[in-house]
Amino acid sequence: MEENLTSPSLPSSLENLIIRLVTHADLPNVAHVARITWDATYNQTIAPENRREFLERSYRPENLADAVNAPGHWFYVAELNGQIVGFGHFLQRYHPTQGRAELVRLYVLPEYQHAGIGTAMLKTGFAALSQAGMEQCFVSVQASNSVARKFYEGHGFVFHQNHGQFLGTQIVIMAEYTRPITPADIER
Ligand SMILES: CC(C)(COP(=O)(O)OP(=O)(O)OC[C@H]1O[C@@H](n2cnc3c(N)ncnc32)[C@H](O)[C@@H]1OP(=O)(O)O)[C@@H](O)C(=O)NCCC(=O)NCCS
Repeated sequence: MEENLTSPSLPSSLENLIIRLVTHADLPNVAHVARITWDATYNQTIAPENRREFLERSYRPENLADAVNAPGHWFYVAELNGQIVGFGHFLQRYHPTQGRAELVRLYVLPEYQHAGIGTAMLKTGFAALSQAGMEQCFVSVQASNSVARKFYEGHGFVFHQNHGQFLGTQIVIMAEYTRPITPADIER
């Protein structure tokens, strides 16, 4: 497979890391990162056909296109030495009085995890949300995904509640977290 032909190694430095807004041209690369990272993350917990069906539907470029450069969306890619190695997508959730946003996707290719790339996307997103007047950010993570839970807890997210979510033929237990967004997030 293509990803085995290269020999990506964990970057010793992130000096060539760029976090930027996604473009339409990036969408096939975003789908590629999603496929690889989903298979590595959820192979024990989400049935292969449910993964395949969800990825095929949710990451088809035409189904992501509305989130590119759109109001209420903050959709970033992490580009390292010219390669898309991760992405993070925040969106505004309707609320009558409060600025609420949700982090709906955050994925870093397995071989690039634990290098600070997820943190860089999170901080870029928090700064933009704060600038846009958002006051709170939600994220839902599979309850059994202890690595991601630890990551979010380290970034100030507080567990709120569990809920079940249909994913094809199965129900996945999701842990919902919230985090306040403050003016200090602009400077961090
Ligand atoms: C979760 C994920 C996006 C994090 O991205 P990442 O690039 O690996 O994250 P970082 O390198 O910035 O940080 C991860 C590590 O730092 C820790 N960390 C980062 N910032 C921290 C902080 N401020 N305080 C405490 N711990 C922190 C995390 O617990 C984790 O620990 P480890 O690497 O020492 O084991 C990535 O691991 C991933 O794509 N996982 C698979 C997909 C997934 O689970 N996505 C979330 C779905 S909701």
